Amino acid sequence: MTAKARHWERAWKDLRDSSERLEELAAIVSSSNDAIIGKDLNGIVTSWNQAATRILGYTADEMIGQSILRLLPEHLQPDEAEILRKIRTGERIDHFETVRRTKNGELIDVSLTISPLRNQHGVIIGASKILRDISAGKRAERSLLQAEKMAAAGRMAATIAHEINNPLEAVVNLLYLLRDSVHDPQGASYLKTAEAELARVSHIARQTLGFYREHGSARKTSLAELVRHIIDVYEPRCASAGISLEYSLNTRRQLTVRRGEIMQVVSNIVVNSIHALPKGGSLGIAVQDVSDGVTISIRDSGAGIAADNLARVFEAFFTTRASIGTGIGLFVSKQFVEGHGGNITIESSQDKHRHGTLVTVFLPEITTYERPNAQDQEQREANVSS
Ligand SMILES: Nc1ncnc2c1ncn2[C@@H]1O[C@H](COP(=O)(O)OP(=O)(O)OP(=O)(O)O)[C@@H](O)[C@H]1O
Ligand SMILES: [Mg+2]
Repeated sequence: MTAKARHWERAWKDLRDSSERLEELAAIVSSSNDAIIGKDLNGIVTSWNQAATRILGYTADEMIGQSILRLLPEHLQPDEAEILRKIRTGERIDHFETVRRTKNGELIDVSLTISPLRNQHGVIIGASKILRDISAGKRAERSLLQAEKMAAAGRMAATIAHEINNPLEAVVNLLYLLRDSVHDPQGASYLKTAEAELARVSHIARQTLGFYREHGSARKTSLAELVRHIIDVYEPRCASAGISLEYSLNTRRQLTVRRGEIMQVVSNIVVNSIHALPKGGSLGIAVQDVSDGVTISIRDSGAGIAADNLARVFEAFFTTRASIGTGIGLFVSKQFVEGHGGNITIESSQDKHRHGTLVTVFLPEITTYERPNAQDQEQREANVSS
C-alpha cells in the first residue's frame, strides 16, 4: 500500500470513528431522562431533546429558533441575562434550583446545570443546559414541612391554650363584676360588646387550639345578620384608622352554618384588610346571593400581595407581619370554609393605580352540615375527639 493510500485509509477510519462517536452521543442525548437543551449566546434555542419535550411540553420544532425566555415565568426573566453573562465569561452554573413554565402554563420546580459550549477553536458559542424536573421531590419536601409545622402547631396550641385560659377567665369574671357599677348607658353598651367579644376569644381559643370543635351546632343563619355584627365590632376601629367602610348586605337566604367558625373567617379577613391599610383607605364588604349559594367578599385598597406570596397565604404560619402575625388566620379560615363545602379565593394587585386585595368566600346553599349524612359526620367527629 502506498503512503497516500495509507493516509486516506487512516483519515477514513478517523471519520468513521468520529461519526460513530457522534451517533453514540446523539443516542445518549436523546435517551436522557433529563432535558438537554442547547442555546446560543443570545438565548436562542439550538437543540432540544425528547426529555425536554416530555418535561416542558414543547416539541423541538416549536422551540428551535425561539428564545429560551419562553420557558421563564415573567418575574424570573431578568435571571436569563445574568445566566448568559456568566456563560460568556466561561463560568458554569451547577444545580441551580428555579422554576420554569411548561407549554400548558404550569410552573414546575427544576434543577439546572448550564455549561458553556465551545467550538473547535475553544471560542464560546453558546451553552448546554441540563434541566431536571424536581417538582415531585419539592412537593414531598413541602408536605413534610407542612406536617412538621402542623405537629409543632399542635404542641404550641396546647401550651398557649393552657396559658391563655386562666387570664381569660379572670377578665370574663371582672367584666361581669363591673356590670353593676356601670350606670352610664354608653359605658354599659361598651361593656356588653367587650363581653361578647371576649366570649368569642375564648371560643376561638378553644376551637383553633383543638380543645373542642363546634359539634352539631350548625344552624340556619342569615349571613347578612352575621356580617352586620362583625361590621358593628370593627366600625369604630376603622373610623379611628381613617378607613372608610362600605357594605352591602343583599341576601335573603338562610344557610346552615357553624356561626362561630364563619364569624371567625370573616373577622380574620377583615382584620387582615385593616392591617393592610395603616394609612387609611377603603374597605368594602358585600354579601350577595349567587345561583348556588352566597358569597361574602371583602375588598381593601391596601398595598396588595406580591405574586410570590399570593400562592402561599393559605399555608400555616405564612406571614409577612413578622412581629405581630402568626400566619394562621387564612389557614384556619380555609379549613372552616371548606368544612362547610365552600371555598375561599384571593386576588390581589400591587399595581400603582389599582392596588388592593379581594377575598371571596363562597358558601353553598346546601352546606355540608345540612346534608342528610351531616349528623353522622358530626357524630364521627365527636367520637374521634372525645
Ligand atoms: N388584605 C391583605 N392585604 C395584604 N396582604 C394580605 C392581606 N391578607 C393577607 N395578606 C398576607 O397574607 C399573609 C397571611 O395572612 P394570615 O391572615 O394567614 O396571617 P397573618 O395575618 O400574617 O397572621 P394572623 O392572622 O395569624 O394574625 C399576611 O401576613 C399578609 O402578608
Ligand atoms: Mg391575619
